[in-house]
Amino acid sequence: VVTAHMRMSGMYWGLTTMCLLGKNLQKEMGSEALCDWVMSCYHADVGGFGGGTDHDPHMLYTLSALQILALCDELDRVDKDMVCMYIKSLQLSDGSFQGDIWGEVDTRFSYCALQALAIIGRLPSLDGESHEGVELAEMGKSKAINIVRAVDFIKECINFDGGFGAVPTAESHAGQIFCCVGALSIARALHVVNVDQLGWWLAERQCDSGGLNGRPEKQADVCYSWWILSSLSILGKMSWIDGDKLTHFILECQDPEDGGFADRPGNIGDIFHTFFAIAGLHLLGYFKRRARAGEVVFREYRDIDPTYALPTDVVKRLGLPAQVL
Ligand code: FPP
Ligand code: ZN
Repeated sequence: VVTAHMRMSGMYWGLTTMCLLGKNLQKEMGSEALCDWVMSCYHADVGGFGGGTDHDPHMLYTLSALQILALCDELDRVDKDMVCMYIKSLQLSDGSFQGDIWGEVDTRFSYCALQALAIIGRLPSLDGESHEGVELAEMGKSKAINIVRAVDFIKECINFDGGFGAVPTAESHAGQIFCCVGALSIARALHVVNVDQLGWWLAERQCDSGGLNGRPEKQADVCYSWWILSSLSILGKMSWIDGDKLTHFILECQDPEDGGFADRPGNIGDIFHTFFAIAGLHLLGYFKRRARAGEVVFREYRDIDPTYALPTDVVKRLGLPAQVL
């Protein structure tokens, strides 16, 4: 169930799924009206987006809004300086990011901040230049985040088991690992990861059912197909899990009547798990295999990028930076 305060993310999950399945956002999804709605959630005074109309701005929904505008090729609608200023305003002196003015800190927000800046072309690189080659000084220091400290904070969240938590000393969690590995991929700083140890921890998440769980002793859940597979894909270790067994588990989570996917077999589907199920199947090469076998799956499917969780062609069109091993 997508509640009103997170409608923005719900729209991103739904639209990205439609893109992956070959729908044309302009012709088939009314992208212009959708972007009008996205802009109705923009707070011009601070530069952030709320999760719905009349909701306060937040890092999570600012990223979802930018992802939707990127998907629809409508990024010209935003004032990039203002959005950049909003994200900078949420960085703390230890390099971490808070989600909004109320102060919760979480590595999810580090990922959101770095991806959002990359999308608007304002991500400074670790060696002091923006990815477009513009000197940091030229961009105006007041507009750039401190990328070195952002990476240092993520490094502080590495645990003895090789995983990452939400804040330093917090338990390793596959969702946070995606955020940290994704953020390091965007910053081109994967050298801080112990790849074998983390790859092993992630591969250990595969259960007897073939599904993946988010932490030891937890039940498998279809969304971890994405959080874990994308991380393994960035680390070049996707072969460390059994792809056929996972594919089988994901397909078991689909409701044969409405087509949606649930967190696990037999449960009711939702847009969140449907997106991550389809995205996971894409990384597993499921649709390519079916197309190769001569089955017409869709007219024109699109691949997903493991770092950005956006179609690979969108990432390419925007020239977004990503390190993969
Ligand atoms: C688990 O959620 C997932 C996470 C903690 C990662 C969330 C990542 C983001 C919000 C960043 C943006 C993501 C994308 C794809 C662009 P949960 O609350 O379901 O965990 P649980 O299984 O422990 O309940
Ligand atoms: Zn889930």
